[in-house]
Amino acid sequence: MPNSTNKKNNNSIYILGIESSCDDTAAAVIKDGKIISNIVANQKIHEEYGGVVPELASRAHQQNIVPVVEMAIKKAKIDKNQVSAIAFTEGPGLLGSLLVGSSFAKSLSLALNIPLLSVHHMQAHILAHFIQDDEMKLPQFPFLALTISGGHTQIVQVNSYFDMTVLGETLDDAVGEAFDKSAKIMGLPYPGGPLIDQYAQSGNPKAFKFPKPKVKGMNFSFSGLKTSILYFIQKQTKENPSFIQENLADLSASIQYTIVNILMDKLEIAVEETNINRIAIAGGVSANSGIRQALLQAQKERSWQVYIPKFEFTTDNAAMIAIVGYLKYQEKQFSSLDVIPKARYKM
Ligand code: KG4
Ligand code: ZN
Repeated sequence: MPNSTNKKNNNSIYILGIESSCDDTAAAVIKDGKIISNIVANQKIHEEYGGVVPELASRAHQQNIVPVVEMAIKKAKIDKNQVSAIAFTEGPGLLGSLLVGSSFAKSLSLALNIPLLSVHHMQAHILAHFIQDDEMKLPQFPFLALTISGGHTQIVQVNSYFDMTVLGETLDDAVGEAFDKSAKIMGLPYPGGPLIDQYAQSGNPKAFKFPKPKVKGMNFSFSGLKTSILYFIQKQTKENPSFIQENLADLSASIQYTIVNILMDKLEIAVEETNINRIAIAGGVSANSGIRQALLQAQKERSWQVYIPKFEFTTDNAAMIAIVGYLKYQEKQFSSLDVIPKARYKM
C-alpha cells in the first residue's frame, strides 16, 4: 500500500476527508487539526420522494464527488500533492453511496502515493468534538456522547479516541426518523426534522401530550411515539380537516418537547449509572434547538459539563471524517487498499 508519510509540508499534516454514507457528498481538508475547507453537496432529489432513495443517492454521489473534492482542495488553498493522507467513511451507511466515496478515496491515494485511512461514521460524529475550533471546547475523557441522527440513537461512553462503549441504543426507529416521520404525517417535506424545529419556535410545547415509551435502562424506542402521533392527527383531522394547518406550531413544539424529554430522561440515567457528568452531543439531530436548550439548562441546574458542536459539524460532513483521519494518521492506523465498505458496522 502507499505509505510515504508526507514530509513535504514543513511537517504540517494535511488530511483530505471524504464522506458519502447517505445523501450528502462531502469533502474537507484539515491542517494539523484545524479545518481549512469544508464542502457539502446536498441532494435535493430525495425531497420529492419523502426520504432517501438509495439508487438516486449513489448516482448523485458519482456526479458530485469530483467537483466536491476539487472544491475542498481549492478552498483549502493547497495543491493536491500537499495532501498527507486520505480519510473516507467505511460505514455504516448505504452500500452504494459508501462504494462511491471509498473507490474514489482508494484511487486518489494510489495516484498520489499517500496512505488511506478508513473511518467509522458514528465515531466520526463523536470525534468531531476534537476539531480545533475557537468556538468549541474539547471534552475531557471519559465523557458520555449522545449520538442522535437519522440512522442512530445511542448513548456512548467515550474513554479515549478509539475506546468507546455503547451503553444504550434504540430498539426501533432512530430519533431523526421520529422527527422526519412525524413531519411526514404533518405533510412536511423530507427531511422534516429541521422544519419541526423551526415551527416549534412559535408553538406551545405543552399544547398536546404524547406518551413516552416504557423502555428500561438506557435503550430507546420511538416507533410507538410515531404511531400515537399518527392516530392523534388522523382523529383530529376527521373532525377538522384544517387541524394540521391551524396547529402546526403547537404540534411541532409538542412533538419536539416529547422527544427532547425522552432523550434527557435517558441521559439522566446514564449520568447516574456511570458517574460521568460530561455530556457531548453528536449527529444531525444535535442541531435541534430543543435538545441544545435542555442541555444548557442541565449544565446550569445540575452542574453537567455540556459540549455542543458547531452546526456545520452536526449534520453529515467530511470535517468529522478528516479529524478522525488526523487522529489515526498520528497513530499510523492506516488502511489497506482492499478495505470493503460496510452498510452495517458496529462501533
Ligand atoms: O447525522 P445526519 O446528518 O445523517 C445521518 O447520519 O443520519 O442526521 C440527519 C437527521 C435527519 O433525520 C434530520 O431530520 C435530523 O438529522 N435533523 C434535525 C435537525 N437538523 C437535522 N432534527 C431535528 N431538529 C433539527 N434542527
Ligand atoms: Zn450521520
